[in-house]
Amino acid sequence: MSALLSDSCLLIGFPDYREAAQRLARAAGIPYAEALVHHFPDGETRLQLPESLPEYVVLCQTLDHPNSRLVELVLAAATARDLGARHITLVAPYLCYMRQDKAFHPGEAISQRIIGVLLSQWIDALITVDAHLHRVHRLKDAVPVNPAINLNATAVMSAFLGKQLDNPFLVGPDEESEQWVAAIARDRDFDYCIARKQRFGDQQVRISLPKADYRKRHIVLVDDVASTGRTLESATRALARFGPASIAVLVTHALFAGDAQERLHRAGVSHIWSTDAIPHASNTLHLDHLLADALDRCRDPRTVQDDT
Ligand code: R5P
Repeated sequence: MSALLSDSCLLIGFPDYREAAQRLARAAGIPYAEALVHHFPDGETRLQLPESLPEYVVLCQTLDHPNSRLVELVLAAATARDLGARHITLVAPYLCYMRQDKAFHPGEAISQRIIGVLLSQWIDALITVDAHLHRVHRLKDAVPVNPAINLNATAVMSAFLGKQLDNPFLVGPDEESEQWVAAIARDRDFDYCIARKQRFGDQQVRISLPKADYRKRHIVLVDDVASTGRTLESATRALARFGPASIAVLVTHALFAGDAQERLHRAGVSHIWSTDAIPHASNTLHLDHLLADALDRCRDPRTVQDDT
């Protein structure tokens, strides 16, 4: 069954992702309601939904701070079913636990598979953006629901950069970033190159830049996610030696753990731009229309393709 076949649909947001969820509801033309979430002093959560729900429900929550939000999500989805929802679409612009797609050491949990199966037990359809897929290429193989749509933010990013900078030079910090960097560059005919990354631990990264003329260029470092920020920080320090006109950072997912943002500025980054997939001070690009379009396509099973 496809989502949103009926007009009887409600988008339910959560207090910590309110603004983006409300924007999505407006863009999609779906009424908005909010889960009431109370955190007890011991860390447990009380969650309450509107007492009667339509057949089709869209839950909109992004999944940074994953351990607590996954519990809230399961509480919300199970309660939505109890209250009458027959079809639940999860819009999670940032999808957690996608990196650990194999056991790198004996005995390690393959978190992607475990969390993917957990989600599939509670939701019918999934829409996310720039999911961090590596060895498992299709989102539906990580989260077995239909449809499982993995959008990318590159069109939004290239439109933004086209207005922001004259003739930027895009740099991807590692091989994985090439898919996004190349797509943005292709859209606007921007120059780009891809660096090589070696990671020695959570906080230790070495970036080797390819030979290029970076001098006096407006460099934009593009990546799907900034977590510790070490990848972008190392790339910035390497680039700064060549005397570029400016170095900016553009990411889909602004996790920026700890003092990552300050370290980036100290290394020489002038601007940090991100999408609203994760609420952060650097959010400058909104994904509401991209997500609304995907929700709209869910109305018609003929137009839905997994991993769009
Ligand atoms: C890795 O493959 C990703 O695309 C990012 O480059 C990475 O997750 C960034 O992590 P951090 O900010 O911790 O260096």
